Amino acid sequence: MNKFDINKIRSDFPIFTNKSLVYLDSAATTQKPKQVIDAVSDFYSYYYANVHRGIYELSMKATEAYHSARQKVANFINAPDWRSIVFTGGTTESINLLAYSWARKNVRENDEILITEMEHHSNIVPWQLVAKETGATLKYIPINIDGTLDLDNIDKLITNKTKLVGVIHQSNVFGTINPIKKIINHAKKVNALTFIDAAQSIPHRPVDVQNLDCDFLAFSGHKMLGPTGIGVLYGKTELLDSMAPFMGGGDMINSVTMSESTWNDIPYKFEAGTPNIAQAIGFGAAIDYINEIGLTNIYDYVKHLLNIALEKLRTIDGLTIYGHQVGESSSVISFNLKGIHPHDIAQFLNQDGIAVRAGHHCAQPIMDKLGVSSTIRASFYLYNTEEEIDLLCESLRKTQAFFN
Ligand SMILES: Cc1ncc(COP(=O)(O)O)c(C=O)c1O
Repeated sequence: MNKFDINKIRSDFPIFTNKSLVYLDSAATTQKPKQVIDAVSDFYSYYYANVHRGIYELSMKATEAYHSARQKVANFINAPDWRSIVFTGGTTESINLLAYSWARKNVRENDEILITEMEHHSNIVPWQLVAKETGATLKYIPINIDGTLDLDNIDKLITNKTKLVGVIHQSNVFGTINPIKKIINHAKKVNALTFIDAAQSIPHRPVDVQNLDCDFLAFSGHKMLGPTGIGVLYGKTELLDSMAPFMGGGDMINSVTMSESTWNDIPYKFEAGTPNIAQAIGFGAAIDYINEIGLTNIYDYVKHLLNIALEKLRTIDGLTIYGHQVGESSSVISFNLKGIHPHDIAQFLNQDGIAVRAGHHCAQPIMDKLGVSSTIRASFYLYNTEEEIDLLCESLRKTQAFFN
């Protein structure tokens, strides 16, 4: 971890001037380094203008910065072509775009869409809507109680009727890393398209869309140090080209007459209206920041924190950790303390300045499977420290002592 200087990293994040904050909710959204905040602020302060529209210097500069952010995203996931990168408002919007523009045109009655029981609601609800409208069947790869996917019957679940296989890469509840390459290869055998929800994985590990050979992939800027309101739908160019627009309006058109319109080239065809320019520029700065530190350095550091946290949490009596037993896992730990409601625990932790998430984490099917209504979730990123894990454990013990 030669380049990894935790003190320097923490000093990049203005929020940590608040020394009493222990932020353990990065799976929900990450804090922002000043490099990202400055990039957004500089745009608004010094070269703010709309993109693609003005033949004047300021607009050209804004357009250049917006395009450069797109190219940075493409490089980050090793996309062969920047036209594969559609900017959206976030992962949820990306999946809805796919469901609307691809699925509603290509999925028919009796077809099947296959997802997993591990999905975030964002990768369940859009497909339920598609299934309802088209008469297709939505099927699920089951999960095991240990927080892994049960792939024993994958060959029976993926059939000639399967049109799309959509899988979460890293679970936002268990932290499990799913064997997406293996699932993609199964889908290819029946020519089903593949979609990867990489919202949780991309901030932590290199994801190479060419190597995976997935058809679509989505993620959000705000979970990787970038601003809210910006996300990505990656799609193979020939698929994006074949798809109908998602929303109508400025910039997504080629021409408009009173009777009909024609569409702009990809990716603009899917970016109706004035885009989130500042957010995209901030996103580009977040990618620069991650690249500067090195994604594998971040991965190693967070893995180190995760292992320490698992080891220490396991010493607390009555604490159940979900997942992290078999296979690969990362950055997120969900747990419960016997006899204490997760919301009460989160409130007690909050009194010690510790921010964790309590709830169903937008993954109610997982909660059903575990037989709980909610869990506590602590999640780590590059700015967390070993001391913060000690503070978490200490506060949990204090909470336990109060209730017992
Ligand atoms: C795995 C996963 N998918 C999708 C989403 C939705 O992301 P967003 O709210 O940025 O659209 C999240 C957010 O928590 C997530 O963890």
